[in-house]
This record gives sequence, C-alpha cells and structure tokens, in this order.
Amino acid sequence: MFDISVFKDMSTEDKYENMVIMLKGLIEGEENSITKLSNASALMNALIGRINWCGFYIANRDKLILGPFQGMPACTEIKIGEGVCGTAFKDKKVMRIENVHDFKGHIACDAASNSEIVLPIIVEGKVKAVLDIDSEEIGRFTELEEKYLIKCAKLLQENINWNIEL
Ligand code: SME
Repeated sequence: MFDISVFKDMSTEDKYENMVIMLKGLIEGEENSITKLSNASALMNALIGRINWCGFYIANRDKLILGPFQGMPACTEIKIGEGVCGTAFKDKKVMRIENVHDFKGHIACDAASNSEIVLPIIVEGKVKAVLDIDSEEIGRFTELEEKYLIKCAKLLQENINWNIEL
C-alpha cells in the first residue's frame, strides 16, 4: 500500500531522500523493465509535486519512443536532436529548462507545460532512455531536483535491463 500522507510534513529534501530509497525498493524487487519504469514514473509523479508530466522515452536507434509515464497523452516519437528530450539524447547531458518557451525547438505535448528537466540514462556510453519531467511552473526545477533526479537516473541505469523490445 502506498500512503502519500506520510510525506506531508517532510522537508522537500527529506521527501526526495525517501523517493530515492523507495525507488530502489520498487525496482530491485521486480524483473520486468516496463513494470519498473511504470512504477518509477508513478512514484516520482506522486512525490515531486507541482509537475504535470513525468515519464520515459526509450531509445530506438536514432529516435526516442514514448515509454511509461504519468500525465496527458504525449508525442510518441522524438528524433535525435529534436526538442529538449532529443537534445539530451544527442548531447548526453541533463537539460534543465527554466522556461520551455525560450528553448528553440521545444516540443509542446501538454500546452500547460512551462518548465522541464530531462535526464539521459546512459549505459556504456549509449543513451538508453531519457527521464522527462514537466511543470506548469516556470523555473520549477532547481539544483535540488537535479541532484535527486540524477540519483534516480543512476538507480534506473543500474537496475534495469535496457535491452527493451520496442
Ligand atoms: N517537451 C518535450 C517533449 C516531450 S513532452 O514534454 C512529454 C521536448 O521538447 O522534447
């Protein structure tokens, strides 16, 4: 059972510490990669707060394919170099965008989104997926979110079989 109310009086940092511990528990006890990514997106969506989309795009050659997520229906394929996700895929780096409307080429899936963070999940030098989180709030993602999401991405990188059939 998942009871969100236990987090209500916690500091943001304590909540994020717990998120990382819970993510570890959720993904270590499972076999299937899609199951793990589905629960990972649900956990982060529940705990991060003030976000409107949270999920994964999985790499397939030079494209990203929509994977497990929480939020509004989203674009199903993103080419390498396109939008914030495709740029994180191409450049193999975290993209933390204060205001998506200032990012040339941003792909608007949910019109309500105003800021975004995208983290590549890299195995042996290859991007296997990106974790994408959107918010309606401008500047929602700070160094604090980046620090903890990097920990989440590392756990996912280490504990998932990324040879996913698409
Ligand atoms: N905004 C992303 C597209 C994916 S959606 O936000 C879910 C981008 O520019 O790559």
